[in-house]
Amino acid sequence: MAKILVLFYSTWGHVQTLAEEVAFGAGERGESEVFVKRVPETMAEETLVRIGGLVNSPYDVASPGELSEYDAIIFGTPTRFGNMSSQMRTFLDQTGEIWSNGGLIGKIGSVFVSTASQHGGHETTIISFHTTLLHHGMLIAGVPYSCPELSGASEVTGGSPYGAGTIAGGDGARLPSARERAIARFQGQHVASLAVRLFG
Ligand SMILES: Cc1cc2nc3c(=O)[nH]c(=O)nc-3n(C[C@H](O)[C@H](O)[C@H](O)COP(=O)(O)O)c2cc1C
Repeated sequence: MAKILVLFYSTWGHVQTLAEEVAFGAGERGESEVFVKRVPETMAEETLVRIGGLVNSPYDVASPGELSEYDAIIFGTPTRFGNMSSQMRTFLDQTGEIWSNGGLIGKIGSVFVSTASQHGGHETTIISFHTTLLHHGMLIAGVPYSCPELSGASEVTGGSPYGAGTIAGGDGARLPSARERAIARFQGQHVASLAVRLFG
């Protein structure tokens, strides 16, 4: 069984919803053991409460040291000025020891995202995230165009060959659409199938 971690940060829940879909897709064939965890919140709890953020998440917090236990890691982050969130950055900046041991070399890395606006940074956030994964020696997986929901322009949709995505809207009221959720599940399936092929 391949061991897969879906590791996310989410302030208001959009990325968490996508993480659940990605994990569902990754486990669908029953050939992988899938774990969903979050990175630690760095915002003060009173600030989080004031802005209506998620408190009491049901998901365990991951530790940087555990990353090398997995065959594939699928990372989810909201965009912050076109880049990953500082919470995810802080977590990754604590992986120096794993980097020096080569603990992630040859493992699969994949990224999904949420933005407020349609052109607010889906692609830049995912591609700039890849830089860190490449420094770790990871093999990058996105979403291939065999995913039917990637094509077509009949509705506003997050998700690209770089990774699944959703658009939260300026006030955060838009929820991940059926199409965006399908792309997220596809990304999970795709990474799981690669992980099974590489790591059994
Ligand atoms: C400091 C800050 C910077 C942000 N920068 C961007 C941005 O560059 N582009 C964008 O579309 N949305 C931006 N957003 C909106 C978030 O990406 C959006 O709230 C998030 O995707 C929702 O996901 P979540 O519910 O999982 O937290 C920003 C939000 C904050 C708080």
